[in-house]
Amino acid sequence: MVFPTETVYGLGAVFNDENALLKIFAVKGRPSDNPLIVHIWDVKQLSSLVSQVSSKAECLTKAFWPGPLTIIFPKRSLVSGVVTAGLDTVAVRMPSHPVAQALLRLTDVPVAAPSANLSGRPSPTKGSHVVEDLFGKVEYIIDAGPCPAGIESTVIKLEPDPVILRPGSVTKEMLEQALGERVAVANPDNQEHPQAPGMKYRHYAPQAPALLFEGDPEKVVAEINHRLDQGKSSERIVVISSSEHLTRYRNEWVLDLGPLESPEVAASRLYDLLRFCDQLAASQILIEGVKPQGVGLAVANRLRKAAGGCIVRVS
Ligand code: TXA
Ligand code: MG
Repeated sequence: MVFPTETVYGLGAVFNDENALLKIFAVKGRPSDNPLIVHIWDVKQLSSLVSQVSSKAECLTKAFWPGPLTIIFPKRSLVSGVVTAGLDTVAVRMPSHPVAQALLRLTDVPVAAPSANLSGRPSPTKGSHVVEDLFGKVEYIIDAGPCPAGIESTVIKLEPDPVILRPGSVTKEMLEQALGERVAVANPDNQEHPQAPGMKYRHYAPQAPALLFEGDPEKVVAEINHRLDQGKSSERIVVISSSEHLTRYRNEWVLDLGPLESPEVAASRLYDLLRFCDQLAASQILIEGVKPQGVGLAVANRLRKAAGGCIVRVS
């Protein structure tokens, strides 16, 4: 069953039903070495999943649950290796979306749920995205409109030291303030030893090749215009731009990622825009980078993934 959360839509199965879990992997085309996040509605459910809740973990659950933060815990042996992809840890989060909360409360059993997209496609932030990817392949889809945050939860591991494995709407700054210590961010480009197994796959990707331009905003505008001038008229190039620069591009298709100083807006629009590029049958997507601060760090991370590492640094 597909349900909305405050981050993206999830495809859920009861955490200890191995047949249903295997179906999730099959329906998404997801590699079996990529573990799932388990969703709960009440902290009392933690004891059925994890062998220990450290004081740091408790501090974070108090500060950020319910909300878009996933915490890695040592798992109890009864948690299936299908959920954890054979790891001895389990990822748990408590969503704040009222529909997700109601569903989890009614089920009253933890629910494992990856994002409800086909593997490799941008995560679904609207019911229509889920229909595009999974219609006819799942029993139920609950459509509750757009997901407010629009990017997947922050994933943090705490042992031996706090490291953000996947940046999200709960920012490094917020986590450092709650924990009272420095929090590192795993290098997403480390393909050899990815921290969250899911981060090694080319994720969040539109069909057309995307090129990401990072650096001084004025120079980025100039460089993108330079590329547009070189492009052939038969190509359908789509620019993803900040609101401020929308009118600066010499191009037919310019999509609005939101104001430069509002990465939250960019987060909420990003996946919808990438899917729209596919509908336009874009031949190439040129994307303005965002400042990697606050939620901007998470947006920058997803943009890099969408570009599959094709990044132009202008300075
Ligand atoms: O916002 C979200 O987290 C959404 C909604 C539906 O809750 N879910 C989601 O799930 O994004 P998924 O499966 O698309 O991404 C789960 C991420 C993957 O990068 C996976 O590798 C990582 O969490 N993960 C899961 N269990 C882990 C573990 N034990 N250790 C390290 N990383 C883990
Ligand atoms: Mg996913």
